[in-house]
Amino acid sequence: MKDTLILGIESSCDETSVAVVKNGREVLSNVINTQISIHELYGGVVPEIASRNHVENISPVMKEALKQANIKLDDIDGIACTYGPGLVGALLVGVAYAKALSYASGKPLIATNHIEGHIAANYITYKDLKPPFLTLLISGGNTQLVLVKDYTEFEILGKTRDDAVGEAFDKVARVIGLGYPGGPKMDNLAKQGEPNIELPKVHVDGLDFSFSGLKTAVINLHHKIPDINKANLAASFEKNIAEILIEHTKKAIKETGITKIALAGGVSANSYIRQEFSKLQNEKNIEVYYPELKLCTDNAAMIASAGYYNFIKGNISDLTLNAVPNLKL
Ligand code: KG4
Repeated sequence: MKDTLILGIESSCDETSVAVVKNGREVLSNVINTQISIHELYGGVVPEIASRNHVENISPVMKEALKQANIKLDDIDGIACTYGPGLVGALLVGVAYAKALSYASGKPLIATNHIEGHIAANYITYKDLKPPFLTLLISGGNTQLVLVKDYTEFEILGKTRDDAVGEAFDKVARVIGLGYPGGPKMDNLAKQGEPNIELPKVHVDGLDFSFSGLKTAVINLHHKIPDINKANLAASFEKNIAEILIEHTKKAIKETGITKIALAGGVSANSYIRQEFSKLQNEKNIEVYYPELKLCTDNAAMIASAGYYNFIKGNISDLTLNAVPNLKL
């Protein structure tokens, strides 16, 4: 069978990325231009600045992706671009660029959901992984337990009612003075501490999550006791979150009878959370999958992979495609 090459374009937040992926699984190139150092100055992503930087970077990043894959635009079978969820001005840059490329080259345009992309990162890391499986999506904008019924068919089993896990990490990190991006900094600091500070565990019904109470408790504690050991605070926060995530994952496994669980999204790069999920694997005969670290956070290879599965399903878009900032799975 002829190979299928998909060009992926990602610009939903502060990474401009273009990738070429073969048959949904093999990465030929995955060029990522991150704007972290620019937004660091402001303590978080500034949407207007993100959009301007995407405009400046998208063409050179695209050329570099084709060069590294050693192909020409003509060799591509389809163009997949993230059209949501994300920052509207940032998304529009990738969507407009993909539409122009599609119009000029005659190649099909594949509108791709960013969340589907995070799930698909696992297909790149595990060449034999096939649905059905469960996904725990933990990123900056989303926290969801998802039943992946098929490559393009999903059922949300539970979701956060307030903050996403990554958002809680970032907000706590900012208040305790770690700066942006908070998640990786909290991860490093927690390694130097002991999880010996008691924090509230927030339970909601079913498989939904809630993290804003925990976040507020940590922030209040830091305000009340300014010289509190920050490493212990970070370790306690992380432990609390890992316990909730694991409890809910076990519940979802029990309810569905599905014992394969794939982590996805930026927070799945967290070393403590990965370590705790590995233990679950040893104790319960559960298979746990994690994307390799560079595929956990935003990148276009995961978009090209998700795009591939939509392409073979015939999910092709026309040039009226628009960005959808609050797109759901
Ligand atoms: O998936 P992602 O790149 O963007 C979204 O699609 O939302 O996730 C970014 C989030 C940020 O909140 C960041 O702080 C968090 O992932 N993150 C981490 C780690 N690396 C990234 N959180 C905890 N530990 C990490 N090592």
